[in-house]
Amino acid sequence: MKKLALAVVALGLVITFSCKKKDTSTPAVTTPTPTMTLYDSLGGTTMVSDPYNPGKMVEKGRLGIRLVVDSTIFVIAGDPKLNGFFPVLLSEVGAGNLSGFQTLSKNLTDFFCVATGAKNFTYSGMSMLDAHNPAKNSRMNGKASNADFDQFVVDLVAGAKKVGLSDQLIGQVGTVVGTTRSQVVQK
Ligand code: HEM
Repeated sequence: MKKLALAVVALGLVITFSCKKKDTSTPAVTTPTPTMTLYDSLGGTTMVSDPYNPGKMVEKGRLGIRLVVDSTIFVIAGDPKLNGFFPVLLSEVGAGNLSGFQTLSKNLTDFFCVATGAKNFTYSGMSMLDAHNPAKNSRMNGKASNADFDQFVVDLVAGAKKVGLSDQLIGQVGTVVGTTRSQVVQK
């Protein structure tokens, strides 16, 4: 009788555990919070009319970056500490030929769009190493030092301020630019 009671208890336990109700409740779904990229803060993918190309639209983020890039190129062109690195570009522009300027503006704009998180553009210029190696890029007159790089950042900040970029965004762009130092500085 005792044995039978034990067997009944054991069977009960087996049934209890094997029939334990499955957890059918819906698992908590964690939706990732979309993180805002620097590109978004610069205007993102909102389409606006392109002041450079009448009748065309452009992403607001790209337009903002292009304004900073072009403004910076002008600051550098007038900066005796840096303009000696750009003899080909400056002589072309001096002769009224804007093709090199337009290519540089596009490549720098693409570079910063990609670096700040844009999804709809790609950078197709030279690698940062080659672009700043006079042996690979005949448009680069000499190797840049850390001091040249620092001056470039000074001019970039001045260029960005000229087109009204906030100090906060300038700081964030500065962080992105800083990541290229080891490739740009080759002296
Ligand atoms: C601070 C970060 C910098 C970035 C992100 C940067 C980026 C670039 C990019 C994307 C190009 C275009 C490459 C191509 O067209 O294939 C370029 C070209 C060039 N960069 Fe930089 N650069 C930086 C700093 C500097 C500095 C410090 C100097 C000089 C001191 C310099 C001098 C040049 C020159 C001379 C060219 C060729 C311009 C031309 O097309 O005539 N860059 N750079």
